[in-house]
Amino acid sequence: MLLKGDDLVFFVNGKKITEKNAEPEKTLLTYLRRNLGLTGTKLGCAEGGCGACTVMVSKYHPHQNRIIHYAVNACLAPLCSLHHCAVTTVEGIGSMASKLHPVQERIAKAHGSQCGFCTPGIVMSMYALLRNNPQPSMHDVQEAFQGNLCRCTGYRPILEGYRSFTKDGGCCGGKAQSNGCCMTNEHTQEHVNVTQKLYDQSEFMPLDPTQEIIFPPELMVLSKQPQRELRFAGERVLWIQPCSLEELLELKATYPNAKLVVGNTEVGIEMKFKNLFYPVILAPAYIPELNIIQNTQDGIQVGASVTLTVLGDVLRAAVKKLPAHQTEVFKAVLEQLRWFAGQQIRNVAAVGGNIMTASPISDLNPVFMAASCKLTVMSKGTTFIFPVQGSKVVAFHDLIQNTEGQYFSAFKQSPRKEDDIAIVTCGMNVFFKEQSNIVQSIRISYGGMAPVTVLATATCNRLLNRQWNEELLEEACTSLAEEMSLSPSAPGGMVTYRRTLTISLFYKFFLNVQHKLSLDLLKEVFNIVFFVVVLFQLDSPSSVQLYQAVPPGYSDDVVGQPIMHLSALKQATGEAIYCDDIPCYENELHLALVTSTKAHALIKSIDTSDAMAVPGVVAFISAKDIPGSNMTGPVVYDETVTCVGHIVGAIVADTQAHAQRAAKAVKISYEELQPVIVTIQDAIANKSFFQPVRSIERGDVAQGFKDSDHILHGEMHIGGQEQFYLETNCTLAVPRGEDGEMELFVSTQSASKTQALVAKALGVSANRVVCRVKRMGGGFGGKESRSTILSTVVAVAAHTVKRPVRCMLDRDEDMLVTGGRHPFFGHYKVGYMNNGRVMALEVTLYSNAGNSLDLSLSRALFHMDNSYNIPNIRATGYVCKTNLPSNSAFRGFGGPQGMMIAESWMSDVALSCGLPAEEVHTATFSLSQSISTSGQFHHRSQHRWTKRGLSIIPTKFGISFTAVFLNQAGALVLVYSDGSVLLTHGGTEMGQGLHTKMVQVASKTLGIPCSKIHITETSTNTVPNTSPTAASASSDLNGMAIYNACQTLLQRLQPYKDKNPKGCWEDWVKAAYFDRVHLSANGFYKTPDLGYDFETNSGRPFNYFSYGVAVSEVEIDCLTGSHKNLHTSIVMDVGKSLNPALDIGQVEGGFMQGLGLFTLEELRYSPDGYLYTRGPGMYKIPAFGDIPIELKVSLLRDAPNEKAIFSSKAVGEPPLFLAASVFYAIKDAITAARAESNLTGPFRLDSPATPERIRNACEDKFTKLVCSNFHC
Ligand SMILES: Cc1cc2nc3c(=O)[nH]c(=O)nc-3n(C[C@H](O)[C@H](O)[C@H](O)COP(=O)(O)OP(=O)(O)OC[C@H]3O[C@@H](n4cnc5c(N)ncnc54)[C@H](O)[C@@H]3O)c2cc1C
Ligand code: FES
Ligand code: FES
Repeated sequence: MLLKGDDLVFFVNGKKITEKNAEPEKTLLTYLRRNLGLTGTKLGCAEGGCGACTVMVSKYHPHQNRIIHYAVNACLAPLCSLHHCAVTTVEGIGSMASKLHPVQERIAKAHGSQCGFCTPGIVMSMYALLRNNPQPSMHDVQEAFQGNLCRCTGYRPILEGYRSFTKDGGCCGGKAQSNGCCMTNEHTQEHVNVTQKLYDQSEFMPLDPTQEIIFPPELMVLSKQPQRELRFAGERVLWIQPCSLEELLELKATYPNAKLVVGNTEVGIEMKFKNLFYPVILAPAYIPELNIIQNTQDGIQVGASVTLTVLGDVLRAAVKKLPAHQTEVFKAVLEQLRWFAGQQIRNVAAVGGNIMTASPISDLNPVFMAASCKLTVMSKGTTFIFPVQGSKVVAFHDLIQNTEGQYFSAFKQSPRKEDDIAIVTCGMNVFFKEQSNIVQSIRISYGGMAPVTVLATATCNRLLNRQWNEELLEEACTSLAEEMSLSPSAPGGMVTYRRTLTISLFYKFFLNVQHKLSLDLLKEVFNIVFFVVVLFQLDSPSSVQLYQAVPPGYSDDVVGQPIMHLSALKQATGEAIYCDDIPCYENELHLALVTSTKAHALIKSIDTSDAMAVPGVVAFISAKDIPGSNMTGPVVYDETVTCVGHIVGAIVADTQAHAQRAAKAVKISYEELQPVIVTIQDAIANKSFFQPVRSIERGDVAQGFKDSDHILHGEMHIGGQEQFYLETNCTLAVPRGEDGEMELFVSTQSASKTQALVAKALGVSANRVVCRVKRMGGGFGGKESRSTILSTVVAVAAHTVKRPVRCMLDRDEDMLVTGGRHPFFGHYKVGYMNNGRVMALEVTLYSNAGNSLDLSLSRALFHMDNSYNIPNIRATGYVCKTNLPSNSAFRGFGGPQGMMIAESWMSDVALSCGLPAEEVHTATFSLSQSISTSGQFHHRSQHRWTKRGLSIIPTKFGISFTAVFLNQAGALVLVYSDGSVLLTHGGTEMGQGLHTKMVQVASKTLGIPCSKIHITETSTNTVPNTSPTAASASSDLNGMAIYNACQTLLQRLQPYKDKNPKGCWEDWVKAAYFDRVHLSANGFYKTPDLGYDFETNSGRPFNYFSYGVAVSEVEIDCLTGSHKNLHTSIVMDVGKSLNPALDIGQVEGGFMQGLGLFTLEELRYSPDGYLYTRGPGMYKIPAFGDIPIELKVSLLRDAPNEKAIFSSKAVGEPPLFLAASVFYAIKDAITAARAESNLTGPFRLDSPATPERIRNACEDKFTKLVCSNFHC
C-alpha cells in the first residue's frame, strides 16, 4: 500500500516524537521496545491479560478542559491511536541513575519484586492511580491491580508496600490482630527476638505530587486546535481517524468492510490470535458525538465510543444523585463493570465495542437486553434501531433508568472473580403491579448459554401475573431447567454447571427481590435473605509475618537479615536487563516457530512458498539444517509428530512480525495416525507407559489390611498446571564467526544443559558454546529442560544464516510447546481402625508425561505418605506416554501431587469414621507436634447457602535432586586488587533471590560487606557442568561451594591478616596481590551419602526434609460455587533463615502457586489434543483478589539445620503444597453443604476445586432439577 500518511505526533516520557511512518499494525509496546529501546515495559501475554506492559497515557480533554491520565496495556494499544497523547513508561518516572520514584522504591523495599518481570507494569498501575488520586483507599489500590498478574510474590508484599500510600497510611485497622499488628501490644512475644519487621517504612521517600512530569504544553495547544481527519498508511493497513460522525458515516459507506476500532481490546485479539486481517481501520475514538453523555427523559444516553471507565464514573455519580428506586439498572451495570476485565482494559474499551462484539459472554449485553435499553444504529443517511447489519455503526446507547415497582439485578459467574470472562452472566428485571407483589412484566437474559445473549422468553411469559412467592420460584426453576438447555457437547463445556447456574442465579434474584419487596411493601426484612443477596466484596487484606531476628550483638552478620533482593530496585525502574532486553545486533534476525497442528501424524510435505514470499523472510529452517545430531532437539522434518505444538521448523526474518506472519503461512500436509492418546485414562486403556514402572514397599501390606477394622477405596485426579513464568522462553544466539563458536543468551535454569544440547546439535564440542544467563523473569521448573527446545532451534538457525537470531516466544506459543506440571490420577485402598489410624495403604499413581519422558520420573512416590507414618505401604507409579507436549518440572516436581492424594485418603477416612480430619491426622502423624499453628477461627456458618470450612494440612518435603549426580555445585570467586569481589556460581537467578543469598553467604564467610561483592551472571565459561537451578537445593549446593571457595581465599589471605591485624580487607588483598598470591578460587560441593535403590527399596533419597503446616478457612457460595479465602496461617521450617524476607517471599509465593494449582488453574484440551487454554484470557492464575483476607506466616524458630549452609533449609518448593489446606477447607465446607441434603460420608473432589466442581458437589434441589432434565 505504502501511501504517504500523516505524521503521528506524541510524547514519550516528556520527549516529542514525530513518527513519519506510523505502522497501523504496530502496537505501542513494540514501538517502545524496538523503536525507542525503552525495554522497561515488558511483554507478558500480548492480550491484555497480565499487565506487564502497563504504561500511563495522558491526554488533554478540550471539552472538559482537563488532562486525564490512565493506565493502558501497551500490548493492545495501536501506535496510531496515540496521536496527541503523552505516554509515560517506567523509565520516565525514576531511575537508579537519577532518582527513584517512591512507587518504585516502595515495591522494592517491601520485597514486592522477585523475578521483577511484572514489576514495571505494577509500578505503572500504581503510578497512574496516584496521578489521579494521591491519597487512595486500599480498595482503590486493589482495583488498580485488577489487570496485573504476578507469578512470584503471592501479591501480599506488593499490597503491603503500597498500603503506605493509602489514606490510613499502612494500618490494617487491627484486622491482623495478633502478633505484630500495630494495634496490639508489640511486646507480647514469648521470645523477644521474634520480629515481624521486614523493612523500615520510615525510610520510604515521601510522595510529592508536585514533582511529577508535567503534561507537555505543546500537546495542550495542539489538542485545542480544530481537529482534522488523519490517515496513517502502513505496509498492509490504512488507519483513518475521522473527526466527526458525518465523516465516519461517509468513510463507512466508502469502505463498507472497514473495521471500526476504539479500544482495540477485541480487534487486537482477533488480529493477533485469530489471524484476522483488516486492511482498512476506522478509529472513531475522538469523535465528539460518539463521546456524548447526556441525560434524557428515560435515562442516560451514552455515545458508543465512551469508555467503560467513563461510563462507570457517570453511573456512580447518577447513583449518588438520583433516588434509589431509579438506579437499579445503573447499579447492575456498575456491578458488571466491577468485574469487567482490569482497569487498563476498561480505560480504553468502549461501550459500543462490547455491544458490537456480540460475544456470548459479554457482561453488558445481558443487562442492556434485560433492561430494554435502546441502541441507535446509523449508516450514511439512515438512523434506526436494530437489527445491526453490514455497513452500520453504533452511535448511541440509551441506558434506561428505573421506575418504582421495578427491581433489577445482574450476576456474573466466572472461574476467577477478577479480570475473567464469564461462564454465565445475566440481567434480570421484574416490574410489579402497583403496590403489589404481582408480576406485571419480567425480562431475564443470559450470556454463556448460546452463541448470543438470550432472553428466557418462555419462562418470563409463565411468570406474568403471578405472585412473587415460593410457587413462582418453583415454576421459574422448572421452566428455566427446560428452557436453558444445552447439548452435552456444547462449546465451552461445563454443561451441568452452566444450566445449574441459570437456576441458582435466578434464585439469588428471587431472594433479592423478595428482600426488597418486603422492605418496600411490608417494611420488614427476612434475615435469611440477607446472606444470599450480599454482593461479593473484595475485602482489604491483612497479614503478619514472623521470623526469628538475628540476636542482638550480631547486627553485622548479614546472614539472617531481611535484605532486599539485590536487583529489586533495578527491576522496579525497568533497568534490570532480561534476555529480550539485550539491544538488537545490527544484522540480527528474528525467529518464529512452525509447529504441528496434529497430535499424532506423519508429515507428508511442507510447502514454504507463501511463507518465503512474506517481506523480510530470510530462511525456513528444518532438520536438514542441523549439522550435528538431531537426537536432542525437535527441529524435525520428516518424522512423526507426536503432539500439537511439536516443533517442525522455524522461519527467520527481519522482524518478529514478518517471521510470525510467514510461520503461519507454512503449509504442512499430514497423514493422521492412531491412536491419539490425550488423557491418563486413554493411556491406561492403551497401556501406553514409559519405563521404568517404579514401586516402593514397606511393611506387610496384606497383613495390614487384615488387621484393619475397615477398608475403603477411592480415586482422585489432579489437573496439570502451566508454570506461567511472566517472561516466556527467550534465546538470542550469536555466532562468533570462528572455530564454530556460538554465544547464547538464554532465559534458562540450566545453562550447562543448554550448552551441551546446542553443542550436540551444531556438531561441535561444548568448549565452543557459551551460555549466559543474567536473570529470568520466573522459571518455576519450566525453564529447567524445556527451554532447550527453543534455544537449540535458535542456535541452529543462527548457525545456518550466520547472523544473530533472537526469539522470545509469545505466550500462546510458550504454553503450546513447553508443557507444564504433570496431571496425576491416583487410586487407593486404605485399611484403617475405628479411631482413624491408617494401618495399610496401597496406592497406584499415574502421571501424564506427554510425548517424552523429559523430567517425568518425579518424586511423587517418595511423598505419597506426606507426613504420616503408615506401617504397611505399597505404591506404584506409572508414567503415561501421551500425545501432549512433554510435561516437565514445576515447583514440587510430583511431590505436591503425591501428597495431595495422601490427603484425599485421609479425608475419606475421616469422613467414613465421622471424625474431624485433625483427629485422624494426629492418629497417623509422623511429625513433631511442635509444628502447629495458633490461629483463631470462626465458627462454621450455619446458613443454608453459605458454608465455611476449615482444614489443617502438614507437609514434609525431601531436599535433594533424586538424580544423585546432580547434587553437586561449583563456584568461582575472584578478588580484584581494589578489594572488590566478583562472585560466580552454578545457580541461576529467576526471582527467588539466589544471588542475594549467595552474596550474603560470601559476605559472611569473607567478613566483608555485601556492597563489595557482585554477581554479573551465570555462565558456562566460569563454572562448568552446573546442575539446573532446581529441586530447591541451589542455595544449599551453591552456598557450600561458595563457602568452600571463600575459605580457600581466606587461608591465602590469613598471613596478611596476621601481619596487619588492624588493617582492613583492602589492605590484606593489596598486600597479597603485591606478594603474588593467587586471588581467585574455585569451590566445589557435593551432598554426601545420597542414593535410593528401587530394586531393594533402600537408601537415602534426600539429605533432609523441610516441614511446614498450614491452616486455612474458606467460605463457599453453595449456589454459584465461588469461594473466598478467609484466612491462612502458615508455619514453615526453613532452618536458620539465610534471609527471612526472601524466605517468606518464597513461602507466600509458593503458597499462592499452590492455591492456583488446587483451586483455580485448569488446562483444557480438545479430544484431539489441542490446548484451548493458551494465555491469561483462558488460563487463570491467582490474581491480587485471591490472596487470603488474613494471612499469617511464621518461620519456625529455634530450628537450625546442620545439613546445609549456615544451618539454613531449602524453601523454594516445600510451601507450595500448603495450599492444599485451602482445597480441603473447601471440601470441608462442601461436606457441610451436602449434609443439608442429607448426604454424608466420603465423596470424590478432584483438583482444582473450581466453582464448577464446588457447585456440582453441593448437590441440592437445583442440581437435581437440572439432572432430572438432563442425564447427569
Ligand atoms: C483482557 C481482556 C479482558 C476482557 N474482559 C471482558 C469482560 O470481563 N467482559 C466482557 O464483556 N468483555 C471483556 N473483554 C472484551 C472487550 O474488552 C470488550 O468487548 C470491549 O468492550 C470492547 O471494546 P473496544 O472498544 O476495545 O472494542 P474494539 O476492539 O475496538 O472493537 C470491538 C468490535 O466492535 C466494533 N465497534 C466498535 N465501535 C463500534 C461502533 N461505534 N459501531 C459499530 N461497531 C463498532 C468493532 O468494529 C469490533 O468489531 C475483555 C477483553 C480483554 C482483552
Ligand atoms: S503483555 Fe500486555 S497485558 Fe500482558
Ligand atoms: S515478581 Fe511478579 S512475576 Fe515475578
